[in-house]
Amino acid sequence: MSSAADTLTETPLGGPTLPQERRLVTSIPGPRSQELLARKADAVAAGVGHTAPVQAVAAGGGVIVDADGNSLIDLGSGIAVTTIGNAHPKVVAAVQAQVAQFTHTCFMIAPYDSYVSVAEALNRITPGDHAKKSALFNSGAEAVENAVKIARKYTGKQAVVAFDHGYHGRTNLTMALTAKSMPYKSGFGPFASEIYRAPLSYPYRDGLDGGLAAKKAISMIEKQVGADNLAAIIVEPIQGEGGFIVPADGFLPALVEWCRANDVVFIADEIQTGFARTGEMFASDLFGIVPDLITTAKGIAGGLPLAAVTGRADIMDASHAGGLGGTYGGNPIACAAALAAIDVFENDGMLERAREIEAVLKGRLQQLQATDPRVGDVRGHGAMIAAEFVDPATGEPDAALTAAVAKASIAQGVIVLTCGTYGNVIRFLPPLSITDDLLHEGMDVVAAALAAA
Ligand SMILES: Cc1ncc(COP(=O)(O)O)c(C=O)c1O
Repeated sequence: MSSAADTLTETPLGGPTLPQERRLVTSIPGPRSQELLARKADAVAAGVGHTAPVQAVAAGGGVIVDADGNSLIDLGSGIAVTTIGNAHPKVVAAVQAQVAQFTHTCFMIAPYDSYVSVAEALNRITPGDHAKKSALFNSGAEAVENAVKIARKYTGKQAVVAFDHGYHGRTNLTMALTAKSMPYKSGFGPFASEIYRAPLSYPYRDGLDGGLAAKKAISMIEKQVGADNLAAIIVEPIQGEGGFIVPADGFLPALVEWCRANDVVFIADEIQTGFARTGEMFASDLFGIVPDLITTAKGIAGGLPLAAVTGRADIMDASHAGGLGGTYGGNPIACAAALAAIDVFENDGMLERAREIEAVLKGRLQQLQATDPRVGDVRGHGAMIAAEFVDPATGEPDAALTAAVAKASIAQGVIVLTCGTYGNVIRFLPPLSITDDLLHEGMDVVAAALAAA
């Protein structure tokens, strides 16, 4: 069973030179992966889960290779992070050059060029041509925390509205903003105060057009919070963990308009949707909205940890000096990686590639939907596409079917992720560097898993 693994004498190099194939030489997990998972169970806190039971040793293009020599098709990009491809050569070169130069000075102690260059790039490529400024952080949750801090300081108000199905992170404030209790919040309270939840536009389940859905949300906000108390509303333009929910046309523009009229900061959380993922540089562009503040992370730096808040200069400048920052925020290696990644996003056809991937994934899923009523909805944009699984008799979410299809797909060497408040959505987030052949093969495996479930 492990003969091919035994010939794996050294760790293969990652990046696009890795053979682009699905290859199973052991069952998954193979013996070496099992060994690591046993050590993980002993050494790593139980709360840190994993989706694919493998020991990753290399990745690139559209595959992840494990320690047993299996090559798995990657339809998850490490949760929408390696959008330009794992170990992209431009990122590798930029990181190698920077790490030999200096690894850290702390931008708040001795500033350096790459941090400022990343801020300039973000100010330029985020929606809107107004004056903007940025601040850099380490993780998406930290960016969200800081966007809320900045909005409160600017408005002098305290309340924040988040939405049903929203996901904004696992720190204390972002848990409060996140909707789903299990696994993100359960038992971890008390949560931050002055957080309120409004209904989202969820066309497949609420049947409302965007205008009506916005009216419902605004009515709740006015009656239960009050614009006089409200610092900000925060929303993912397309929900990530919540189920890849695409709001009906008109929903987001109506919210932006209401915020402008009521001195409320509109924060778009583009941590999952940003950087070409949806076929536009930012999902806000899909809906024609210009947020006051935008949070980014994930795809920004080709796999290195970096996050940002970017937005209207007058809002971003509301904080006194020293009020924003952190020891590692805007680390020079992560900034070098981000400059390389942004160059790829802007100049290497990434938006077009995301739209091509949308055509392949939607085509394949709509084919399945046409013959299998358990596929209730197919939705998304670019390389951020999902299928929602239901009981055809009742339309109720079918989380058990969803979990079975995902598990069987992974066992056959295709990494897919689930999501959704009801756990009944499979989301497809391939790296844009994946080949069409691998995409089709991945979807063949998912289709077979669904047929067998
Ligand atoms: C929309 C959104 N916001 C915030 C976060 C939190 O980011 P991080 O995990 O980097 O803290 C995520 C992560 O999945 C996300 O998808």
